[in-house]
Amino acid sequence: MDETRTQPAAVRARGIVKSFGSGDTQVTVLRGIDLDIYQGEMLLLVGESGGGKTTLLSALAGILDIDEGHIDVLGIPLNDLPAGKRTTFRGQTMGFVYQQFNLLPALTAAENVAVPLLIQKTGRHEALQHARAMLDRVGLGDRTEFLPKNLSGGQQQRVAIARALVNEPRLLICDEPTAALDGHTGQKIMELLREVGRSPDRSVIIVTHDSRIFHFGDRMAHLTDGRIVSIEPIAREGTA
Ligand SMILES: Nc1ncnc2c1ncn2[C@@H]1O[C@H](COP(=O)(O)OP(=O)(O)OP(=O)(O)O)[C@@H](O)[C@H]1O
Ligand SMILES: [Mg+2]
Repeated sequence: MDETRTQPAAVRARGIVKSFGSGDTQVTVLRGIDLDIYQGEMLLLVGESGGGKTTLLSALAGILDIDEGHIDVLGIPLNDLPAGKRTTFRGQTMGFVYQQFNLLPALTAAENVAVPLLIQKTGRHEALQHARAMLDRVGLGDRTEFLPKNLSGGQQQRVAIARALVNEPRLLICDEPTAALDGHTGQKIMELLREVGRSPDRSVIIVTHDSRIFHFGDRMAHLTDGRIVSIEPIAREGTA
Protein backbone atom coordinates (compact mmCIF):
# COMPACT_ATOMS: atom_id res chain seq x y z
CA MET A 1 0.00 0.00 0.00
CA ASP A 2 1.13 3.56 -0.61
CA GLU A 3 2.13 4.87 2.82
CA THR A 4 2.44 8.46 1.57
CA ARG A 5 -1.30 8.73 1.02
CA THR A 6 -3.04 11.18 3.29
CA GLN A 7 -6.62 10.64 2.14
CA PRO A 8 -8.70 8.62 4.55
CA ALA A 9 -9.81 5.21 3.37
CA ALA A 10 -13.48 4.99 2.39
CA VAL A 11 -13.24 1.23 2.36
CA ARG A 12 -10.88 -0.77 4.53
CA ALA A 13 -10.99 -4.51 4.04
CA ARG A 14 -8.79 -6.89 6.02
CA GLY A 15 -8.38 -10.63 5.82
CA ILE A 16 -11.52 -11.36 3.84
CA VAL A 17 -12.10 -15.05 3.31
CA LYS A 18 -15.07 -16.40 1.37
CA SER A 19 -15.87 -19.95 0.27
CA PHE A 20 -18.82 -21.37 -1.61
CA GLY A 21 -20.27 -24.84 -1.21
CA SER A 22 -19.24 -27.44 1.31
CA GLY A 23 -17.35 -30.72 1.60
CA ASP A 24 -15.71 -31.99 -1.58
CA THR A 25 -17.25 -29.25 -3.70
CA GLN A 26 -16.16 -26.36 -1.49
CA VAL A 27 -14.29 -23.62 -3.34
CA THR A 28 -12.45 -20.90 -1.45
CA VAL A 29 -12.64 -17.86 -3.71
CA LEU A 30 -11.26 -15.11 -1.47
CA ARG A 31 -8.28 -16.22 0.61
CA GLY A 32 -7.39 -13.21 2.72
CA ILE A 33 -8.11 -9.99 0.88
CA ASP A 34 -6.54 -6.78 2.21
CA LEU A 35 -7.65 -3.67 0.36
CA ASP A 36 -8.04 0.06 1.03
CA ILE A 37 -10.01 2.31 -1.29
CA TYR A 38 -9.21 5.95 -0.67
CA GLN A 39 -11.65 8.81 -0.76
CA GLY A 40 -11.66 10.56 -4.11
CA GLU A 41 -9.94 7.81 -6.04
CA MET A 42 -10.95 5.57 -8.91
CA LEU A 43 -9.56 2.10 -8.25
CA LEU A 44 -9.53 -0.52 -10.98
CA LEU A 45 -9.69 -4.16 -9.99
CA VAL A 46 -8.40 -6.73 -12.47
CA GLY A 47 -7.89 -10.47 -12.36
CA GLU A 48 -8.66 -13.64 -14.25
CA SER A 49 -12.21 -14.73 -15.02
CA GLY A 50 -13.66 -16.72 -12.14
CA GLY A 51 -11.02 -15.25 -9.83
CA GLY A 52 -13.51 -13.69 -7.44
CA LYS A 53 -13.84 -10.06 -8.53
CA THR A 54 -17.64 -10.00 -8.48
CA THR A 55 -17.57 -11.94 -5.21
CA LEU A 56 -15.31 -9.27 -3.71
CA LEU A 57 -17.57 -6.44 -4.89
CA SER A 58 -20.59 -8.19 -3.37
CA ALA A 59 -18.70 -8.57 -0.09
CA LEU A 60 -17.64 -4.91 -0.06
CA ALA A 61 -21.26 -3.93 -0.63
CA GLY A 62 -22.42 -6.14 2.21
CA ILE A 63 -24.62 -8.13 -0.19
CA LEU A 64 -22.66 -11.30 0.50
CA ASP A 65 -21.72 -12.52 3.96
CA ILE A 66 -18.02 -13.23 4.40
CA ASP A 67 -16.56 -16.17 6.34
CA GLU A 68 -13.68 -14.26 7.91
CA GLY A 69 -12.27 -10.75 8.01
CA HIS A 70 -13.45 -7.16 8.49
CA ILE A 71 -14.85 -4.57 6.12
CA ASP A 72 -15.23 -0.95 7.20
CA VAL A 73 -17.09 1.38 4.87
CA LEU A 74 -16.81 5.04 5.90
CA GLY A 75 -15.78 3.84 9.32
CA ILE A 76 -18.81 1.59 9.76
CA PRO A 77 -18.06 -2.11 10.35
CA LEU A 78 -20.31 -3.51 7.64
CA ASN A 79 -20.50 -7.07 8.90
CA ASP A 80 -21.55 -6.05 12.40
CA LEU A 81 -24.67 -4.34 11.06
CA PRO A 82 -27.87 -6.37 11.20
CA ALA A 83 -29.21 -7.21 7.72
CA GLY A 84 -31.89 -4.50 7.69
CA LYS A 85 -29.51 -1.74 8.77
CA ARG A 86 -26.95 -2.97 6.27
CA THR A 87 -29.49 -2.66 3.45
CA THR A 88 -30.40 0.86 4.53
CA PHE A 89 -26.71 1.81 4.86
CA ARG A 90 -26.04 0.41 1.39
CA GLY A 91 -28.93 2.38 -0.08
CA GLN A 92 -27.66 5.59 1.48
CA THR A 93 -23.96 5.22 0.73
CA MET A 94 -23.47 3.02 -2.32
CA GLY A 95 -24.38 2.95 -6.00
CA PHE A 96 -23.95 0.04 -8.41
CA VAL A 97 -23.36 -0.18 -12.13
CA TYR A 98 -23.66 -3.70 -13.56
CA GLN A 99 -22.21 -5.16 -16.72
CA GLN A 100 -25.63 -5.87 -18.23
CA PHE A 101 -27.20 -2.57 -17.10
CA ASN A 102 -30.01 -4.35 -15.16
CA LEU A 103 -32.65 -1.79 -16.02
CA LEU A 104 -36.31 -2.59 -15.40
CA PRO A 105 -37.78 -3.02 -18.90
CA ALA A 106 -41.29 -1.76 -18.13
CA LEU A 107 -40.07 1.51 -16.60
CA THR A 108 -38.94 4.62 -18.46
CA ALA A 109 -35.39 5.89 -18.09
CA ALA A 110 -36.54 8.48 -15.54
CA GLU A 111 -38.51 5.88 -13.56
CA ASN A 112 -35.51 3.52 -13.53
CA VAL A 113 -33.26 6.26 -12.21
CA ALA A 114 -35.87 7.24 -9.60
CA VAL A 115 -36.02 3.73 -8.11
CA PRO A 116 -33.28 4.21 -5.46
CA LEU A 117 -34.97 7.44 -4.33
CA LEU A 118 -38.40 5.82 -4.14
CA ILE A 119 -36.88 3.04 -2.02
CA GLN A 120 -35.60 5.76 0.33
CA LYS A 121 -39.19 7.07 0.54
CA THR A 122 -38.69 10.21 -1.53
CA GLY A 123 -42.06 11.31 -3.00
CA ARG A 124 -42.68 10.25 -6.60
CA HIS A 125 -42.79 13.76 -8.08
CA GLU A 126 -39.57 14.83 -6.40
CA ALA A 127 -37.85 11.53 -7.21
CA LEU A 128 -38.69 11.88 -10.90
CA GLN A 129 -37.47 15.49 -10.91
CA HIS A 130 -34.12 14.40 -9.44
CA ALA A 131 -33.97 11.49 -11.86
CA ARG A 132 -34.51 13.73 -14.89
CA ALA A 133 -31.83 16.15 -13.66
CA MET A 134 -29.42 13.24 -13.24
CA LEU A 135 -30.24 11.95 -16.73
CA ASP A 136 -29.49 15.42 -18.05
CA ARG A 137 -26.05 15.25 -16.42
CA VAL A 138 -25.26 12.02 -18.25
CA GLY A 139 -26.37 13.51 -21.57
CA LEU A 140 -29.82 11.93 -21.75
CA GLY A 141 -32.02 14.92 -21.01
CA ASP A 142 -33.93 14.20 -24.23
CA ARG A 143 -34.47 10.50 -23.49
CA THR A 144 -36.00 10.60 -20.01
CA GLU A 145 -39.36 9.10 -21.07
CA PHE A 146 -37.89 6.33 -23.26
CA LEU A 147 -38.13 2.67 -22.33
CA PRO A 148 -34.77 0.83 -22.10
CA LYS A 149 -35.51 -1.21 -25.26
CA ASN A 150 -35.63 2.02 -27.24
CA LEU A 151 -32.18 3.12 -26.08
CA SER A 152 -28.78 2.07 -27.40
CA GLY A 153 -26.46 -0.03 -25.22
CA GLY A 154 -24.36 3.01 -24.33
CA GLN A 155 -27.49 4.99 -23.50
CA GLN A 156 -28.78 2.17 -21.29
CA GLN A 157 -25.48 2.11 -19.42
CA ARG A 158 -25.77 5.90 -18.99
CA VAL A 159 -29.20 5.36 -17.42
CA ALA A 160 -27.66 2.72 -15.13
CA ILE A 161 -24.91 5.18 -14.15
CA ALA A 162 -27.50 7.89 -13.47
CA ARG A 163 -29.41 5.41 -11.30
CA ALA A 164 -26.25 4.53 -9.39
CA LEU A 165 -25.44 8.22 -8.80
CA VAL A 166 -28.89 9.60 -8.02
CA ASN A 167 -28.45 9.06 -4.27
CA GLU A 168 -25.07 10.79 -4.38
CA PRO A 169 -23.34 7.68 -3.07
CA ARG A 170 -19.99 7.92 -1.31
CA LEU A 171 -18.99 4.61 -2.88
CA LEU A 172 -19.67 3.81 -6.52
CA ILE A 173 -19.18 0.15 -7.44
CA CYS A 174 -18.99 -0.81 -11.11
CA ASP A 175 -18.76 -4.45 -12.25
CA GLU A 176 -17.40 -4.47 -15.80
CA PRO A 177 -19.39 -1.39 -16.84
CA THR A 178 -18.01 -1.40 -20.39
CA ALA A 179 -18.05 -5.14 -21.10
CA ALA A 180 -21.31 -5.13 -23.08
CA LEU A 181 -20.29 -2.08 -25.11
CA ASP A 182 -18.18 -1.52 -28.19
CA GLY A 183 -14.76 0.09 -27.66
CA HIS A 184 -15.80 3.63 -28.56
CA THR A 185 -18.91 3.56 -26.36
CA GLY A 186 -16.85 2.02 -23.54
CA GLN A 187 -14.44 4.96 -23.70
CA LYS A 188 -17.38 7.39 -23.53
CA ILE A 189 -18.77 5.59 -20.48
CA MET A 190 -15.39 5.78 -18.72
CA GLU A 191 -15.10 9.49 -19.56
CA LEU A 192 -18.54 9.93 -18.04
CA LEU A 193 -17.60 7.99 -14.90
CA ARG A 194 -14.54 10.21 -14.47
CA GLU A 195 -16.51 13.42 -15.09
CA VAL A 196 -19.74 12.73 -13.26
CA GLY A 197 -18.84 9.77 -11.05
CA ARG A 198 -15.78 11.19 -9.33
CA SER A 199 -15.63 13.76 -6.59
CA PRO A 200 -13.25 14.35 -3.68
CA ASP A 201 -15.54 12.61 -1.23
CA ARG A 202 -16.57 9.75 -3.47
CA SER A 203 -14.64 6.55 -4.17
CA VAL A 204 -15.11 4.52 -7.29
CA ILE A 205 -14.15 0.87 -7.71
CA ILE A 206 -14.35 -0.60 -11.19
CA VAL A 207 -13.85 -4.24 -12.09
CA THR A 208 -12.71 -4.59 -15.66
CA HIS A 209 -11.05 -6.87 -18.18
CA ASP A 210 -10.77 -4.08 -20.68
CA SER A 211 -7.18 -2.86 -21.10
CA ARG A 212 -8.46 -0.03 -23.31
CA ILE A 213 -9.89 1.73 -20.27
CA PHE A 214 -7.04 1.16 -17.79
CA HIS A 215 -5.71 4.70 -18.19
CA PHE A 216 -8.89 6.12 -16.66
CA GLY A 217 -8.08 4.74 -13.20
CA ASP A 218 -5.92 6.19 -10.41
CA ARG A 219 -4.69 2.84 -9.08
CA MET A 220 -4.93 -0.73 -10.22
CA ALA A 221 -5.31 -3.72 -7.93
CA HIS A 222 -4.61 -7.28 -9.13
CA LEU A 223 -6.62 -10.15 -7.69
CA THR A 224 -4.83 -13.47 -8.09
CA ASP A 225 -5.39 -16.75 -6.27
CA GLY A 226 -7.85 -15.12 -3.92
CA ARG A 227 -5.53 -12.33 -2.80
CA ILE A 228 -4.70 -8.80 -3.82
CA VAL A 229 -1.15 -9.37 -5.01
CA SER A 230 -0.34 -5.80 -6.07
CA ILE A 231 -1.73 -2.30 -6.13
CA GLU A 232 -0.03 0.28 -8.33
CA PRO A 233 -0.68 3.87 -9.28
CA ILE A 234 -1.65 4.32 -12.93
CA ALA A 235 0.29 7.02 -14.75
CA ARG A 236 -2.00 9.28 -16.73
CA GLU A 237 -1.11 12.11 -19.05
CA GLY A 238 -1.06 15.40 -17.20
CA THR A 239 -1.64 13.83 -13.80
CA ALA A 240 1.32 11.46 -13.41
N1 LIG B 1 -23.21 -18.26 -5.30
C1 LIG B 1 -22.19 -19.03 -5.65
N2 LIG B 1 -22.16 -20.35 -5.37
C2 LIG B 1 -21.12 -21.12 -5.69
N3 LIG B 1 -20.02 -20.67 -6.32
C3 LIG B 1 -19.98 -19.38 -6.63
C4 LIG B 1 -21.04 -18.47 -6.32
N4 LIG B 1 -20.70 -17.24 -6.75
C5 LIG B 1 -19.48 -17.36 -7.30
N5 LIG B 1 -19.04 -18.64 -7.23
C6 LIG B 1 -17.74 -19.14 -7.72
O1 LIG B 1 -16.75 -18.25 -7.28
C7 LIG B 1 -15.76 -18.07 -8.28
C8 LIG B 1 -15.56 -16.59 -8.50
O2 LIG B 1 -16.69 -16.05 -9.15
P1 LIG B 1 -16.79 -14.49 -9.48
O3 LIG B 1 -18.09 -14.29 -10.17
O4 LIG B 1 -16.53 -13.70 -8.27
O5 LIG B 1 -15.55 -14.31 -10.50
P2 LIG B 1 -15.14 -13.06 -11.37
O6 LIG B 1 -13.70 -12.77 -11.07
O7 LIG B 1 -16.10 -11.95 -11.19
O8 LIG B 1 -15.23 -13.66 -12.85
P3 LIG B 1 -15.62 -12.92 -14.23
O9 LIG B 1 -14.42 -12.11 -14.61
O10 LIG B 1 -15.82 -14.07 -15.17
O11 LIG B 1 -16.85 -12.10 -14.00
C9 LIG B 1 -16.23 -18.85 -9.48
O12 LIG B 1 -15.49 -20.05 -9.53
C10 LIG B 1 -17.67 -19.12 -9.23
O13 LIG B 1 -18.06 -20.34 -9.74
MG1 LIG C 1 -17.48 -11.03 -12.45
